[in-house]
Amino acid sequence: MDTAELIWHNGEFVPWEDAKVHVLSHALHYGTGVFEGVRCYETERGPAIFRHADHLDRLAKSAELYYLGLPYSPEQIGEATRELIRRNGLGSCYIRPLAFRGYGSLGLYATDAPVDVIVAAFPWGAYLGEEGQKHGIRAKVSSWRRISPAGLIPHAKASGQYLNSILAKTESTNAGYEEAILLDERGFVCEGSGENIFLVRDGQIVTPPHVAAILDGINRKSVIQIARDLGYTVVERDVARAELYLAEEIFLTGTAAELVPVREIDDHPIGEPGEITRHVQAKFVDALYGRAEEYLEWLDFVKVPAGADEPSKVSS
Ligand SMILES: Cc1ncc(COP(=O)(O)O)c(C=O)c1O
Repeated sequence: MDTAELIWHNGEFVPWEDAKVHVLSHALHYGTGVFEGVRCYETERGPAIFRHADHLDRLAKSAELYYLGLPYSPEQIGEATRELIRRNGLGSCYIRPLAFRGYGSLGLYATDAPVDVIVAAFPWGAYLGEEGQKHGIRAKVSSWRRISPAGLIPHAKASGQYLNSILAKTESTNAGYEEAILLDERGFVCEGSGENIFLVRDGQIVTPPHVAAILDGINRKSVIQIARDLGYTVVERDVARAELYLAEEIFLTGTAAELVPVREIDDHPIGEPGEITRHVQAKFVDALYGRAEEYLEWLDFVKVPAGADEPSKVSS
């Protein structure tokens, strides 16, 4: 992976290679962490973090759902992130805030284990490739079902939950596909291993609802608004597996992947990205890069002092 100079770790900016944890940290054993994937884009007005406040809000809510008392407010983590981007001298980058139970206890009622917080920011290109964004990817419905709300919390973005995504992604990659689509425990379409899913059926845009165990994706929300603003009808409803094969168009949304068309699913051709996908994708990319006036409020601009192109050293 590409690295950067500094990582924010419990209030300090430390060199990348010094941001370490003890091997008996609680989260390492049980997955007791919550995190976000956030992106910053180089715009004409400097680096801007896409929907930063929404990501920080979801981080705080994920923490609350798993009884992790965050020792920093979303505002403090947000300010630390902007400062990290400035100090690392980054433009477009991927941002990973993580709050996790650290070293102190290995019991399951782990209030003795402190909650540690880090923010990393580093260069990371399109998760499913630029070619995928242009021409679409091949996806496969996974034999693994998405975690059930009866046992875990699909609304939370929690570390341990990602073993589910990893099983699905590994299976689909080993079978020669680029992404896995998971069904929910009832057998309805849920989402990709790290993206929400949209279909076009009879000219309408359809996406699975919250009760289908989706992660409440921030890009999903953005794309729903953009598509409606462009005049499309967007329906949140249960989607049967066969509708994937019958769809006129399919695309995925997520912070890491951005908006990626699907050109084939379970060996059923969907085709090159369609007109609606292209239309929504173009506006979405404009929003990410600050080229859409109507969505500028989604951007948190990182103020970089004039002439400050050299990353500064570790803070004391
Ligand atoms: C399982 C899962 N679903 C959906 C998404 C899309 O969410 P967002 O648009 O907030 O990145 C992600 C990525 O964070 C994810 O990991």
